[in-house]
Amino acid sequence: MCGIVGYLGKREIKSQLIDGLRELEYRGYDSAGIAVMQQGSIQSFKAVGKLTNLDEKTKNFQTKGQGVGIGHTRWATHGKPTELNAHPHMGEYSYVVHNGIIENYREIKEMLENEGVHFLSQTDTEVIVHLFEHEAKRHDDLFEAFKATIDRLDGAYAVLLVSQKAPDTIFFARNGSPMIIGKNAHGEVFFASSDAPLIGEAEEVAYMEDGTIGYATSGKIHVEPEPLQFVPLAGDKMTAQKGGYRFFMEKEIYEQYQVVSDAMIGRVLDDDIVFEELDDAFLEGISRIKICACGTSYHAALTSSYLFERQAKMPVNVEIASEFRYKDPLLTEDTLFIVISQSGETADTLEALKMAKEAGLKTLAICNVDNSSIVRLADATILTRAGIEKGVASTKAFATQVMVLWMLTLFFAKKRGTMSDDAIRNELLYMSYVPKDLKKSLEVHEKCKRLSKRYLHGHGFFFIGRDIFYPLALEGALKLKEISYLHAEGYPAGEMKHGPIALADAELFTIALMPKTMLYDKTKSNVEELSARDSTILSISPEMFDLADDFILTHPHKHPMLEFFEMMVVEQLLAMEIAIRMGNDVDMPRNLAKSVTVE
Ligand code: M6R
Repeated sequence: MCGIVGYLGKREIKSQLIDGLRELEYRGYDSAGIAVMQQGSIQSFKAVGKLTNLDEKTKNFQTKGQGVGIGHTRWATHGKPTELNAHPHMGEYSYVVHNGIIENYREIKEMLENEGVHFLSQTDTEVIVHLFEHEAKRHDDLFEAFKATIDRLDGAYAVLLVSQKAPDTIFFARNGSPMIIGKNAHGEVFFASSDAPLIGEAEEVAYMEDGTIGYATSGKIHVEPEPLQFVPLAGDKMTAQKGGYRFFMEKEIYEQYQVVSDAMIGRVLDDDIVFEELDDAFLEGISRIKICACGTSYHAALTSSYLFERQAKMPVNVEIASEFRYKDPLLTEDTLFIVISQSGETADTLEALKMAKEAGLKTLAICNVDNSSIVRLADATILTRAGIEKGVASTKAFATQVMVLWMLTLFFAKKRGTMSDDAIRNELLYMSYVPKDLKKSLEVHEKCKRLSKRYLHGHGFFFIGRDIFYPLALEGALKLKEISYLHAEGYPAGEMKHGPIALADAELFTIALMPKTMLYDKTKSNVEELSARDSTILSISPEMFDLADDFILTHPHKHPMLEFFEMMVVEQLLAMEIAIRMGNDVDMPRNLAKSVTVE
């Protein structure tokens, strides 16, 4: 996703900006640019591709003395990744960088074009700078013009704007996209999309809330409507990057609402799903899907198999990549071969992808790391935009994988006409609730912390669920075993009676996923069978269940996927709290690696 940096001070501004952008590379980008203002004149540079291309373009440019600058790495949403579409965008005397989506840009653009404004790019962002200059004609005070501009924008944004008419000032605004401001005793001011570029530079930072607007100029930071709460920024990169959380895993669980929303940007519209990554020619002749993945990514794949078949009416076959490789699989050319991988480097998944390519299949990677081996090899890629995931136990990457797969299901359903427009619109409405609901799900953290002390012993855990809650049960069990080293298994709730129930006694812990929107009564019967054999039951459900020894009450929802995402958070928090109580390093569990590049 896009990254933003800004700098006000006396240091060499170009290097300051490009170094900052380098710290944001993990967010993914396809072009980059900077605008630097000194002694009233602005210079801007842009380049498609990696930051080394921008380095090359700016190699003969340097600044000396006080000035301001803004920089941006762009992940294309409106318009292709070209130099014209790269940020900063310019007006007659001002430049802007923006992260997010301006939903009403078309109507603003039309209004400005009617006034004779000429647009250079296909982006939504360019309207901001022209609107600002339009407002500047009506307001003597440039901050008032900036406020009037921001007032007219609908959507998500983090914006930095510089103007030759206010040569030592950076205007800023945030709504829905992250932005941090930092300062130090030398009078320097910094802006960035995450704290990574600020570490070692700023002494104090403030994490802006939605609705924040202001400007920074030499010796002054003006903010409305509330003053900013600056807090010290740890100088140690590791501590600072954890942002106050005990572990990266915890931070990543808390980031899920944001990354899931990032995954949707530019793809989920009010009544449509758009994947610029997939064109019609690519999908022609495809009538079935095969998905290969490992670990958590395999669980995301399995979840999607229910969605694809139910909603897009496409036969889907999901395989663990290491099994697929040696079974002499039958591959037919009407199959879209999808691989899912957080890292993009998992050897088994990569090899499975090579086999599919050799067999002449069309291949699609769903991946979190741009330019990874899997992304480079696949014919098409959908990036999941989870940002860098440091905890070995995957959390936010899984959330974004499932989100992308749900979107992809609806994309296919629409293309194949298996769902009506109304039904798709309805799904999209529920989908739009996910980020907020994920934030609300975190309320259960304290309860998980308290409950965790009761689950440190026993001879094993069974996570059980039905339908999409079966892969979620598998994922809950994997999370727990990875970081707590306790034995845990995921099972379809209806399968317990075919064998595993023999293990039931008070020391067998059943974690029952009991959503109200999907097969509640059926799951309940299965849990009753376990309870009758004295298994200790922890039910996760919006409805109290008499036979449960413990319960975690989830919010009532009207759609299974909303229940799915909330229960996912509960499982993650519970596993983490159990593992922390056991004294384990949840970020680096024993015997595991983040990227499994061996067979
Ligand atoms: O990078 P990948 O998604 O391809 O990795 C696959 C598995 O190694 C990975 O999901 C692993 O199971 C995680 N540790 C799960 O938390």
